[in-house]
Amino acid sequence: MQSKIQHLKSEMLAALHAAKTEEAIRETEIKYLGRSGLFNEIMKSLKDLPDEEKKTVGKAANVTKKEMEEAVSRRFISLESERLGQIAETEWLDVTVPGRKPVVGHRHLISKFIDDLEIIFGKMGFTVAEGPDVESEHYNFNQLNIPPDHPARDMQDTFWVANLPNTVLRTQTSPVQIRYMEAHKPPVRIICMGKTFRKDSDATHSPMFHQLEGLMVDEAISMANLKAIITHTLQQIFEDPSIKTRFRVSFFPFVEPGMEVDCTCPICHGEGKLPDNVPCRLCKQCGWLEIGGAGMVHPKVLKNAGYDSKKYTGFAFGFGLDRMVMIKHRINHLRLFFENDLRFIRQF
Ligand code: PHE
Repeated sequence: MQSKIQHLKSEMLAALHAAKTEEAIRETEIKYLGRSGLFNEIMKSLKDLPDEEKKTVGKAANVTKKEMEEAVSRRFISLESERLGQIAETEWLDVTVPGRKPVVGHRHLISKFIDDLEIIFGKMGFTVAEGPDVESEHYNFNQLNIPPDHPARDMQDTFWVANLPNTVLRTQTSPVQIRYMEAHKPPVRIICMGKTFRKDSDATHSPMFHQLEGLMVDEAISMANLKAIITHTLQQIFEDPSIKTRFRVSFFPFVEPGMEVDCTCPICHGEGKLPDNVPCRLCKQCGWLEIGGAGMVHPKVLKNAGYDSKKYTGFAFGFGLDRMVMIKHRINHLRLFFENDLRFIRQF
């Protein structure tokens, strides 16, 4: 009987070894050790043995049963570690690999330039004013002395807003002059930087572009102040104290006199050519670059804003902001600013 039990044990060990799932182990356990399992089957014949043998055989049988039970638990444990081993094999990850860096952007070249201008003008006592991109005809034209039949309205090729009467995408930042003066008493020292819109599109024009507007109004403001502020500003922007300015008579309905502002080319320093007689391409060899318009605020504009035009005078200017960035960083195509090509944007 003892050898029968030993035989049963080794049979069960082999079955356990072959059991590859929890279920199979459990079935084996029931088959051999269950209440009506093979082990108990053998034990039934215990009662036929003489008393003396009954004791020793019974004892030995119990030891073997215990061993068999332990074998079952060990098989459960080894199956689990096989499972984990398999996961480790297929789903391993290397925790020492350096993490992936998130892509961090930075401010756009134009936005950075706007911040720089704020600092340059801040040092001269100017504060930043703002106005809406979608503007009324009243502020964009009428109050700036540009009446409905004035040719300046055609010149500016305006985007009129459909379904909103007398509303435009502002063609210039000058309406902010009026808005600010209406809301504040003199003295005024402001700049406004922002988007402007015109039906224009080529290498140097985009339907959306940026302007820098300046306005200074007080008692006894003259052309001398205008020239000083503008010249200093351009020297600061191009980080070149040798920059000179020149003012050519021009016309804008909201200033009188009006002028076009040029500055010496920061590449050839007004020479039109580089060392070794290489022609300067930026200024097309003329030595000067056109920056924008300026003038003394028209008395009608001061009056429109509620100012006493006998007591106060002022100057205003409007520069192409993108153009200044192009000159500063030698960028040859305006649209590069707005195409969002990362190869371009990451360079600045
Ligand atoms: N607003 C004018 C333009 O867009 C520029 C300008 C501003 C001219 C202020 C004179 C004074 O062309």
